[in-house]
Amino acid sequence: MRIDVLTLFPEAFSGPLQASILGRALASGIVTVELHNIRDYATDRHSIVDDYAYGGGPGMVMKPEPLAASIEAIRGMATPAGRTVLLTPQGRLLNQAIVDELAQEERLILVCGHYEGVDERIREHFVDDEISIGDYVLSGGEIAALVVIDAVVRRQPGTLGSEESLLEESHSDGLLEYPQYTRPPEFRGWRVPDILLSGNHGEIARWRRRQRILRTANRRPDLLEKALRRDPGEALLSEEERRLAEEATGNK
Ligand code: 6GU
Repeated sequence: MRIDVLTLFPEAFSGPLQASILGRALASGIVTVELHNIRDYATDRHSIVDDYAYGGGPGMVMKPEPLAASIEAIRGMATPAGRTVLLTPQGRLLNQAIVDELAQEERLILVCGHYEGVDERIREHFVDDEISIGDYVLSGGEIAALVVIDAVVRRQPGTLGSEESLLEESHSDGLLEYPQYTRPPEFRGWRVPDILLSGNHGEIARWRRRQRILRTANRRPDLLEKALRRDPGEALLSEEERRLAEEATGNK
């Protein structure tokens, strides 16, 4: 997979792209990320990329010409051209289903908005999709683009170790994670639950499953509702787990 990023701040990407699983995936060549500075596509002497908004009001708007020129140039660099996605608080709210959809693409072009936004003609004529990472305002699309890249890269085959992949698989059921502990067994007087030290793998698996349901009921009842509403044919929750979930949500 190839991801092209159009941004006014390419330097914002170098650190995060080198770290951890993401850095490993890029180094292995499973995914290529190419950074492009939109300013390089400005045609005037001062490389101006923003301007005042028609109609007045505070804040600058990203000019259409440098954005159009950069998107066209990058689309022309490879076939297929790939989906052009604008990162903007007005976009579709990112979730795992959207991540999985983007991860299917051979090529993605991520356009990072800045200032008060981009000229509307760019959104209308040069962008296929608009994505937001949450209902809060960031100063630009760069961090949002990094979120998309991280989430999309970890869905590429070969990115995760086999253990990580298995964990991912078993947790694609919409429930939150069970509580995790490591050594020491007692830390400042707080003990690890005895069951985890018992060596009884069946009991441990049941305890973890139960913890996931209770935790989801307490913290994200919306997610548990969704899991319960899924087709019982998908067998995400056993009959007993369903009862536990309904009890836990009902008790609140
Ligand atoms: Cl994609 N951009 C900006 N500027 N703010 C955001 C966002 C994106 N997603 C959530 N907030």
